[in-house]
Amino acid sequence: MINLLIDGEDYRLQYRRSVEDPEGFWAGVASGFHWHRPWDKVLEWNFEKPQVRWFEGGQTNLCYNALDRHALSHGDRIALIWEPNEENEEARRWTYWELKEAVVRTAGILNDLGVQAGDRVCLYMPMVPELLWTVLACARLGAVHSVVFGGFSARSLADRIADAGAAYVVCAEQIRRGPKVLPCRAVVEEALSLLDNEQENPVRKVVVQGRPHHKEPLCSFAHTECLDWEDLWHSTLSRPEPRWMNAEDPLFILYTSGSTGKPKGVLHSTGGYMVYTAYSFAQVFRTRPGDVFWCTADIGWITGHSYLVYGPLLQGATVVMFEGIPTHPDPSRFWKICQRHRVTHFYTAPTAIRALMVYGDAPVQSVDLSSLQVLGSVGEPINEEAWLWYHRVVGGERCPVTDTWWQTETGGILIGALAGLSALKPTFAGLPLPGVQPVLLDPSGRELVSTDPPTEQEGLLAMRFPWPSILRSTWGDHERCRNTYFSPFPGYYFTGDGARRDAEGMYRIIGRVDDVINVSGHRLGTAEIENALNLHPMVVESAVVGYDHSIKGQGIYAYVILRTALKDSDQETEDRLCRELSETVVREIGAIARPDRIQLVEGLPKTRSGKIMRRFLRKIASGDTAQMGDTTTLLDPTILESILVGRKG
Ligand code: WTA
Repeated sequence: MINLLIDGEDYRLQYRRSVEDPEGFWAGVASGFHWHRPWDKVLEWNFEKPQVRWFEGGQTNLCYNALDRHALSHGDRIALIWEPNEENEEARRWTYWELKEAVVRTAGILNDLGVQAGDRVCLYMPMVPELLWTVLACARLGAVHSVVFGGFSARSLADRIADAGAAYVVCAEQIRRGPKVLPCRAVVEEALSLLDNEQENPVRKVVVQGRPHHKEPLCSFAHTECLDWEDLWHSTLSRPEPRWMNAEDPLFILYTSGSTGKPKGVLHSTGGYMVYTAYSFAQVFRTRPGDVFWCTADIGWITGHSYLVYGPLLQGATVVMFEGIPTHPDPSRFWKICQRHRVTHFYTAPTAIRALMVYGDAPVQSVDLSSLQVLGSVGEPINEEAWLWYHRVVGGERCPVTDTWWQTETGGILIGALAGLSALKPTFAGLPLPGVQPVLLDPSGRELVSTDPPTEQEGLLAMRFPWPSILRSTWGDHERCRNTYFSPFPGYYFTGDGARRDAEGMYRIIGRVDDVINVSGHRLGTAEIENALNLHPMVVESAVVGYDHSIKGQGIYAYVILRTALKDSDQETEDRLCRELSETVVREIGAIARPDRIQLVEGLPKTRSGKIMRRFLRKIASGDTAQMGDTTTLLDPTILESILVGRKG
């Protein structure tokens, strides 16, 4: 476990040390883990290439560090509490010893299938314990997991399977989510037929968990064998030992949206990710043995990877995993879970807080939340009203709220308050963690240096020095990694976010400066949604922008040009078409990308060179239409008038 070398030591001292002697600092942190072979060199890096290598020469295994190590020294401590979707079903618990046993058995299943170190295994599952086991089983074998969130469509799943070249898929029969039961295996089958048709199907074996009484026959494909989890669970005899992996061997791929093209597979490697997730978890949340940590994120997102699975288990904490949604069967479900499992640390997204705020204070006050000590927020900017409500009503004004800023690419929290130590300022994520070196850049790439006396500054957020869990590449396309993150400002990792820094050096994240939008804490590329809309036979062109949404943070607003204009009077046809357009997006990407508003337009505001001026579209979508600003660069400024008239809102 990481003992915070720095506990009690002043943040500033620790921070200074991490900048003056990063190698010494990180070697100290990394020595809190079991290494089968020690590293030769702490860090080698070059942002131009880009190439970053941490703990080169070292060999370790994340599953060993997260489970075996704790099973040996405090095996009877609770590792996992699983709360099912249905409130009247019993929660299940595993000690560290028991969880290790379950994961070893899961690794046995994978091993029997033929999974080898370096193979990609795609996981498409609900929030059941088997998902967490499979993630850790992959780590045990050195296989590369690629978890795809269960809300993605067959098309999205197929693209991710093909891109990763996954020969194995682990899925479930169904997904229970609140009052709904959604198909899971059927989506995998559809994805496989898409890939079969495109002759791009790398999948050899599919394992299906949670089949009802083995009744239905399993799917069969020309090249893909389907197997039943239960059968394998009972038949496996192998008990794989952890495979010692090199620090820079890949650990997992996680697909995320960018401003252009298809989602990219962010690649994280073994040693650095292990060190940083455990370190940041310990630094920010400051749990003690016996504390109960609940991160509400799905394992399909980076937050679930880093702070439901790896960070807390590496630190030997007790984690809660919840299968369902905050409003099922009623809006006090989250709080009842906190009460039932005596949750001490609660980590969720602003969108959930805002959605629950709507029901008022009563559902929170009806339960005993005295166990809570620390509250966390992640995934999108938290507005002041939500921050204050979270602090006052949920935290009873006694729990620090830490707003944590980070990204799929950063692997772990880079900016956020250290619970109970740092000063708190609503809507500010705060100071960087020791070891993290953020800068603000102006559009030409010059660093904004602090003035004397310091004043508030605003710019583009970048990092000038690597931290251990920085992404290593984008799967199969290193060039894309360079172009997206390292070329925009040579010598820096560029985050894509704009930020403000106050006189004390605290950061407030303003939001994306690229064409990425954040809808209910889910990251989506506007280009992806446009590509989906454009597949509809009636669509000539579309433009998608985000607009302020009181619960989701951002909503999706789509402007669509049709092949043939609809008659003005025909509202019914228009409604039907808009529904079809929505369904096209849901089919292509998944329900999380369903547009909130669709406006049929005759044209889009373009410059003479044909570039869409999204700035105007964003203003119209947000209803901020009083002053449109300079429209003289537009080829046809009158187009704005007609769009304004038909604005949806
Ligand atoms: C946004 C989620 C403001 C930001 C961990 C970032 C935030 C993107 C915060 C990454 C926060 C994340 N305050 N904005 N505390 N945390 N973001 O990859 O725009 O799903 O670039 O990772 O979410 O989203 P991702």
